[in-house]
Order: sequence, then C-alpha cells, then structure tokens
Amino acid sequence: MNNPSIVILDFGSQYTQLIARRIREQNVYSVVLPCTASLAQIEQANPVGIILSGGPSSVYDTNAPPTDARLLGLGKPILGICYGLQFITHHLGGKVRSAARREYGHAEVEIIAKTPLFEGLAQMQQVWMSHGDEALELPPGFSLTAKTSNAVAGIMDEARRIWAVQFHPEVHHTRQGTELLRNFLFRICKVAPDWTPEHFIQTTVAQIRQQVGDKGHAICALSGGVDSSVAAVLVHRAMGDRLTCVFVDNGVLRKNEFQKVQENMRGKLKLNLVAVDARERFLKQLAGVTDPETKRKSIGKEFIAVFDDEAHRIAKLSGSVDWLVQGTLYPDVIESSSVKGPSQTIKSHHNVGGLPETMKLKLIEPLRDLFKDEVRRIGRDLGMPEDILLRQPFPGPGLAVRILGEVTPERVALLQNADEIVVEEIKAAGLYQQIWQSFAVLLPVQSVGVMGDQRTYAATCAIRAVHSEDGMTADWVPLPYAVLKKISSRIVNEVRGINRVVYDITSKPPGTIEWE
Ligand code: XMP
Repeated sequence: MNNPSIVILDFGSQYTQLIARRIREQNVYSVVLPCTASLAQIEQANPVGIILSGGPSSVYDTNAPPTDARLLGLGKPILGICYGLQFITHHLGGKVRSAARREYGHAEVEIIAKTPLFEGLAQMQQVWMSHGDEALELPPGFSLTAKTSNAVAGIMDEARRIWAVQFHPEVHHTRQGTELLRNFLFRICKVAPDWTPEHFIQTTVAQIRQQVGDKGHAICALSGGVDSSVAAVLVHRAMGDRLTCVFVDNGVLRKNEFQKVQENMRGKLKLNLVAVDARERFLKQLAGVTDPETKRKSIGKEFIAVFDDEAHRIAKLSGSVDWLVQGTLYPDVIESSSVKGPSQTIKSHHNVGGLPETMKLKLIEPLRDLFKDEVRRIGRDLGMPEDILLRQPFPGPGLAVRILGEVTPERVALLQNADEIVVEEIKAAGLYQQIWQSFAVLLPVQSVGVMGDQRTYAATCAIRAVHSEDGMTADWVPLPYAVLKKISSRIVNEVRGINRVVYDITSKPPGTIEWE
C-alpha cells in the first residue's frame, strides 16, 4: 500500500507544484496526478484528501480537460482551488459564468461562515486571485463561506465534505494561506504530520532492499552535485558495496573538482567509487566545435559512451550490472505526466546517468518523490557534508557551455582559474548560499589592455550572478561594488590571458542563465 497522501489533481495551474510543496512543508506527503487520472489511479495513491488545483481552462471550453467527476463522490475530503471551485460548481449542478473581466492579483475576501477550513483565520483576508470565470449559482446542498465585494470566494457542503475557494492559498500573497491549508490537512483530513526526512529514509531504504533483493549489482553516475550524491548514499545504505559509483572527468569540470569529489565520496561518504579520467576523449570530441548545441550533444554522447564502457568493465568484475541509480526528481516526473504540452526545447540538457543502451538496466530512482529542497533535507539527515548539499547548480556539460567558441585545454584552464576566483570571492563575501549561481564565462573576444608598461592583447571574461527559484526564470544579482572590484582585479592580475572583465546584467527571460 502506498503512503497515505493528499492527492492534488493538476488542472494545469502554474501553482500546482507549489500546492504540493506547501503541503509537504507541513510534513504531510502529497502527490500530483494529472486531472485525467482514473478513479483507480487516484485510489491507488491512497488519498486521505483530494485537492483540485487551479487551471487555465473554463469549464465550458470544448477542450476542458476530461476529468472523471465521480471523484467528487469518493467520500474523501475535497478542497477545490480556483478552477477546482468552478469544476465542483459545474459538475454538482450549479452555474459558472465568464466574469466580465479577469480578476488577477491582490484581493480582499470576507469570511462569512464558520467552518473548520477557516478556523482561526481573520474575518477579512488578503488573498491572491487569478481567474476568468466565477460561480454564479451554487450547487444544491452548498452554502457560501466567503465573498469578495461582488463575487463568490468560498463555498462548502460539509455533509459531502467538500470545500472550495476561489483564491490561491498556496501563493504567499494570500497572507493566511498556510493556516487554511493546515486546517484542511489537520482539522478536516486529520492526517498525521509524519512525512519527515527520517521516515523517508527508512521507508526508501526498505523499498530499495525489497526492489533489488539480495543479488545483483547497481551503478550510479555521480556528478558531484546534490541529487546524484543523495541518491547514491540512499542506495548505498540499502545495497552496500553492491553499488559502484562512477565519476567521470569530462575535461570541463571546475578546478580541482575531480580530486575534491573523490575525497568527499570516498572519504566522507564511504561510497565505492570508480573515478574515470576521460579528459582526452571529451576534448578530442570538442576540438574545432563552436556551435553550442553541437557541443552539448557531443558531450552527452561521449558521456554515455564512457559510462557504457565503465558499466561493462564493472559487470565483468562483479559478475553483472543489473540496476542503474538515477537522481530523477519529482518535478521531472510531474513534467512528463502533466496535462501541459511539451514546451519548446531551448537547450538540450544533458544530465549524468544517461542509460547505457546496450545493457538492459532496471532503474532505481530513490528521489522520484522529492523536490530539490527536500533532497537537501534528506541529505542533511543522512549526515552529508554541507559543501555538497549547498553547492550551486553546475550544468552537466560543465565549463564547455561557459567557454564561447572552441573548447581547448588552454581555454579550459583560463576559465577554471577565473571561476575559482569568483567562487572564492563570493564565498568570502558570504553570498554563496544566497545566490542561485555565480560564475565566470570566457568570451571569444580579445581586446587591448595595458599591464605595467606593456601592451596586452588578451581574452575577456564575463561575470554572471543570478537569483532564481528553480532555474526557469532568473534575475541578475546587483553584486556589491566591492565584490565586483575584487573579482575583477584578481582575475586580471592573477589569470594570465584575461585582461578584461565585464558584468552580465541580463535576466532570464530574455537571457538564459548559461551563455550557451
Ligand atoms: P539555462 O541556461 O537554460 O539554465 O537558463 C537553467 C539552469 O539549468 C542549468 N543547466 C543545466 N543543468 N544539464 C544540467 O544538469 C545541462 O545540460 C544544463 N544546462 C543548463 C543551468 O546551470 C541553470 O541552473
């Protein structure tokens, strides 16, 4: 039987994942299912309550998502949010209409009924609204619980255990949104807050043991980042040295990273690690390549080839390789099952752990249920070093996407040196953990400079620092002048071959975070 959960049905709102995170912050497990899930799939998730998310459709759209409305009769407590309220109204016999104008942004709502959902909340609520349609007539059995000056803001049928609000409690602009969600969880669904890191670790290790049995060998590609490391440590707890981790030096790692990762993984985490120096193989593939997509693809392809070779070698040594450990996270899982269409590929991402194709490996994905911040919490509980847990994201193709133009060993060394200075200075200023990413980019631009009495003609490097929640959008960080000054003067003085430093002040969109 699956963990008891709060099931969130995704009608395509941009906030759906946020609802899941808000609930998990209360130590309650929640899963997101597409709104097209069958009743059997919903039941299988062992729901103790169901939340219907917002969504961009109107209930009258001919292409409104085909959701099985019988879920309203499953007898589980239900909370409808925004479109969820309209869905309930429409399917239980009320009326929804197109509002004269779209309501979007801050709004004030008055609570007018006593119900466990609003227990402890102030009568006047500051909330976040985002909808086009509104409920005009309530379904039989329902009563009004909250209103704005001219529209329905909340309804309920306590006998059927259905509540709904027109506003978004998951968005932080709704001041008492968390209290409202807590009321739904703890007063209405009466769920226990036992989804803790410790509980997750215990059950996951037990599940992996059950999945793999007592024979067979697993491999895991480590990147040095938090996801693959936490995944490996969990699987190591379950399988011990039947797990071999592979860490590949692709020639475009940060300075000294190959050594540092080995020290961490072997020394601190006691993982059974094979470190592969494949610099030459990768740099050979990259020679002469300047097109960003070609670079990314050739690194991705070479990575799979190297990993495949290692997997075969390990299979010979250990008898077999049967399992592949991947650090897939929950947002990737939701993304591939959501109601939204695939968005346009801006960059082809390459992540470690591409499946060696010639081996029929079964997957172990211990982080499939987790968001990034939860992975860090789990890592902390597993006793992993903070420098792994708090490392800024680093792209799979490494420094190659920060070296514009050809990637040569000399240019890699230049960027490694500049990058090291950026990281040191950002850390020294106490900013490393507040910033999503901060790094240097090597440009294919030479310019004239003067050093002492000497004319120089050397490369330019750009500094980039961005704030972001998830990498999807980002704002450039106005680094303090003193920090910029120090970085710039250290780079031009200490890195022979760079004589000019510029600062990137582009947000995403329209820029991307990496330059390639
Ligand atoms: P962009 O440049 O697309 O980057 O704005 C968004 C985030 O993704 C990271 N990134 C990658 N991560 N493999 C990864 O694992 C990749 O190929 C890759 N490319 C970009 C980037 O560092 C930023 O955090």
